[in-house]
Amino acid sequence: MSQPLRILGISAFYHDSAAALLEDGRIVAAAQEERFTRIKGDAAFPHHAIALCLDRAGIEESQLDYIVFYENPLTKFERLLTTYHLTAPRSFTSFAEAFPSWLTEKVWMENEIAREMGLTKRIYFCDHHLSHAASAFFPSPFERAAVLTIDGVGEWSTTTWGIGDGNRVELREQIRFPNSWGLLYSAFTYYTGFKINSGEYKLMGLAPYGQPHFADRIRDHLLHLGEDGSIVLNQDYFGYSGGLRMTNDRFHALFGGPPRAPESRITQREMDLAASVQVVLDEAVLRMARHVRDRSGLEHLVLAGGVSLNVVSVGRLASAGVFRELWVQPASGDAGSALGAALWMWHQKLGHPRTPSKPDAMQGAFLGLSIPAASDEDDATLGKLGASWETLEEGALQDRIAGAIAAGKVVAVARGRAEFGPRSLGARSILGDARLPQMQSHMNLKIKFRESFRPFAPMVLAEDARDYFDTTQDSPYMLLVYPVAKRRRIDVDEHGLAGIDLLKVPRSEIPAVTHVDYSARVQTVDAERNPFMTGVLRRFKDLSGCPVIINTSFNVRGEPIVNTVEDAYRCFMASEIDCLVAGNRFLDREKQMNRPLNDEQRAQWLQRFELD
Ligand SMILES: [Fe+2]
Repeated sequence: MSQPLRILGISAFYHDSAAALLEDGRIVAAAQEERFTRIKGDAAFPHHAIALCLDRAGIEESQLDYIVFYENPLTKFERLLTTYHLTAPRSFTSFAEAFPSWLTEKVWMENEIAREMGLTKRIYFCDHHLSHAASAFFPSPFERAAVLTIDGVGEWSTTTWGIGDGNRVELREQIRFPNSWGLLYSAFTYYTGFKINSGEYKLMGLAPYGQPHFADRIRDHLLHLGEDGSIVLNQDYFGYSGGLRMTNDRFHALFGGPPRAPESRITQREMDLAASVQVVLDEAVLRMARHVRDRSGLEHLVLAGGVSLNVVSVGRLASAGVFRELWVQPASGDAGSALGAALWMWHQKLGHPRTPSKPDAMQGAFLGLSIPAASDEDDATLGKLGASWETLEEGALQDRIAGAIAAGKVVAVARGRAEFGPRSLGARSILGDARLPQMQSHMNLKIKFRESFRPFAPMVLAEDARDYFDTTQDSPYMLLVYPVAKRRRIDVDEHGLAGIDLLKVPRSEIPAVTHVDYSARVQTVDAERNPFMTGVLRRFKDLSGCPVIINTSFNVRGEPIVNTVEDAYRCFMASEIDCLVAGNRFLDREKQMNRPLNDEQRAQWLQRFELD
């Protein structure tokens, strides 16, 4: 029997290192390095993620046919070395003008890079935005689609659009560094006191508490927003071109003070700044989408790149109906580019045909490390940690989970293959009852140990989604924000309330997942992509009449999402989660021998130690 053709995609050395493996074009595995090393956003070479890929395929590195890196280090190096006069283009420029040698160059450095990476194979390179574009189009359910990648920066491009058709993606136009929507958003992330490359979600979560008072100041001073959604940033206000910091003193003067010190109190000003940059970005994404639709004449749009994870802007785009349907790559950041680079090699360089699969080719994004229903190894690990559990059949386990949630308990689930991408979708998730008003602050403060302003996301049965939310399409990867349906809302007297206090007032039948502007970051769950959680939700609906629960990622603040059974048990013990599901095991907190009694003991549970 002939062997399948195997392609390994890698992203590394910037942030969110990852690896993905294809066999004859089918995704076998994909994972982010941080999940294994427990270093958030780990940029190191993804040895562990590659090991997972090889292990799943049952092969050695020597059996790989191609290795593809997600960006072109030489071109990126050129950008980093170049000193520029800012003769920035006023709109998207065409690739033909700006980037004649667009596709992979014959990179003479490749052997050296391979050696540095500890690989014995030749390495191919796919340009950064082409990797993003490939990750958006090739796994999508569409035969033809417009492709939009909105990002911080790759080699030179910061935003691109193009056309995906059959087994090819062609990029048409780009916005080039230093003009970048991603870098603008990161500048505000930094200015409001959050960490760049991970705090962007926090800034987005803060926006509904604020008023966009600064939006005109952003438009008038910081940037020129083109009719086509392009951006020209006024570099007088930014520090990143020199590589030192995102914003400068002029920026700080424009917005009335220095950046918020990290961890200091969040004020109305940060909320207003968040709201302001969000409305400017929303407008830009809409304009870009209209431009792309007009130029391409296509009805479907696929998206990737870090800014595509701004679910508010993308949700508004979905609701605006510019395109008939959107598909967003669930691993839209640079981790997903490892997958995009591999798919680009398979389809575009090697010319293999592509048949779009329904609902898509991502297998629900369940592509990472597996925690099987039963395993002697996991039993041994849990035994050494002093855990006690009972093992249940799948149906009984779903019953137990649904029953515990309906009783107001918080249940963490670590079961099956981990999600690829930043969202937990039920394989490494913490679940709770969305109907309980106090659940939002309880889970934020006692379980996630994080700021209480951050809303949780609802997981809803796909067939019931429209009954609770004004959805325009399914959102299986929790990448679209929709309003809670009017009939599910409660009239609120907001008199005298401002800022985070606004969150304390229940504003719908599912208050724990309803943001102060009545929005919700919806995950729709269907039996095809997510049979286990579909079973849990159906049982919960039978018990409670409600098909919605809270789903938040299984981690505590500052930690990557749990990966192994050991990570899951430690996180369970370090927090106030009531029940843990690990494979088909059900663990009750009250029955754990070593359950911590104080903060110090909890902290100890988060530290990894060698099991003998
Ligand atoms: Fe990127």
